[in-house]
Amino acid sequence: MEQITYQIKPRTSKVELPAKLGFGAIFTDHIFEMDYSPEKGWHNCSIKPVEKLSFHPAAMFIHYGQSIFEGLKAFRTVNNEVVIFRVEKHLSRMNRSAKRICMPQIDEAFVLEALKELISIEQDWIPTKSGESLYIRPIMFGTDEVLGVHPSKDYKFMIMLSPVGAYYPEGFKPVKILMQDDYVRAVRKGVGDAKTSGNYGASLLATEIANKLGYTQVLWLDGVEQKYLEEVGTMNIFIEFENEVATPKLTGSILPGVTRDSVIQMLREEGYTVNERLISVDEFMEAYDNGKLKGVFGTGTAAIISPVAEVTFKEKKMVINNGEASPLAVELFNKITDIQRGSRPDNFGWITKVSAEVAV
Ligand code: COI
Repeated sequence: MEQITYQIKPRTSKVELPAKLGFGAIFTDHIFEMDYSPEKGWHNCSIKPVEKLSFHPAAMFIHYGQSIFEGLKAFRTVNNEVVIFRVEKHLSRMNRSAKRICMPQIDEAFVLEALKELISIEQDWIPTKSGESLYIRPIMFGTDEVLGVHPSKDYKFMIMLSPVGAYYPEGFKPVKILMQDDYVRAVRKGVGDAKTSGNYGASLLATEIANKLGYTQVLWLDGVEQKYLEEVGTMNIFIEFENEVATPKLTGSILPGVTRDSVIQMLREEGYTVNERLISVDEFMEAYDNGKLKGVFGTGTAAIISPVAEVTFKEKKMVINNGEASPLAVELFNKITDIQRGSRPDNFGWITKVSAEVAV
């Protein structure tokens, strides 16, 4: 692997972040970038100012969807250290996504070092309030200029950084979700469990319809029978039944969320019964009717833990826990954000320090 070249543009003014950050509209000054060719492997590794890209109209990613990404977060802890949450798991998922659509593998250890360098350079952009973070968005896409349908030979990999707050306009308040069977997001044995850009494109129309009806997100059902709960597209879903917390099992069409995995581990450590299993729409509605549905929440890097206030399926509107966040969702939100911000011990080994020098 080549050395990283640095082209750093010093700032002429202090970084000023708005009081309310929102999600993904502000970017730091620099990115990490590298190129791939079969002859050279990954090369041209650089950290440089963000600039607009220019491509030939035949660039393959525009046509055939060879485009993947990740989403992870860095934090400034209460001890003024800079840390990244579960970075290894995100980078290995990126390699699994790459493999699924015939893209080259990245050297995870090298990319981690490059990411640490980038974050160190951009550390003034890391917000410090609870619920805020520096969102890290690695992307990879095929750049060959040819119209035949086959894997690109050449690729670009980039990492951009964005200071973020809450993902949803509701902030961290409970969201309303539309369960629908008019559209499906993914089918088993397809690419639903890879973080490909196309999965998100596939989700847009149904989400637009849900938004117009006053719902924040769509709760997707399985692609074959539309009988089982799958995921929310920007987050995985957890259901609190009477004596069990359940989440749809990873059948191949669901994204294996990193926050999903963290929540399962935190719940098991607390002694909860957590099952990854099929959850049918009928079971969900029956539990609701019988008062056995205690809470619903989503999990995701961007969404963190997002309580669900209402789930509607066809004519049936189900208000969960009187429209309030369940105590468990609140507890999990506090626990995971405390681990991320260093105010609770990281018993799970989820935290990677960016550099010792950053600490005071
Ligand atoms: C994330 O949670 O990081 C995601 O990738 C979901 C969405 C923002 C695309």
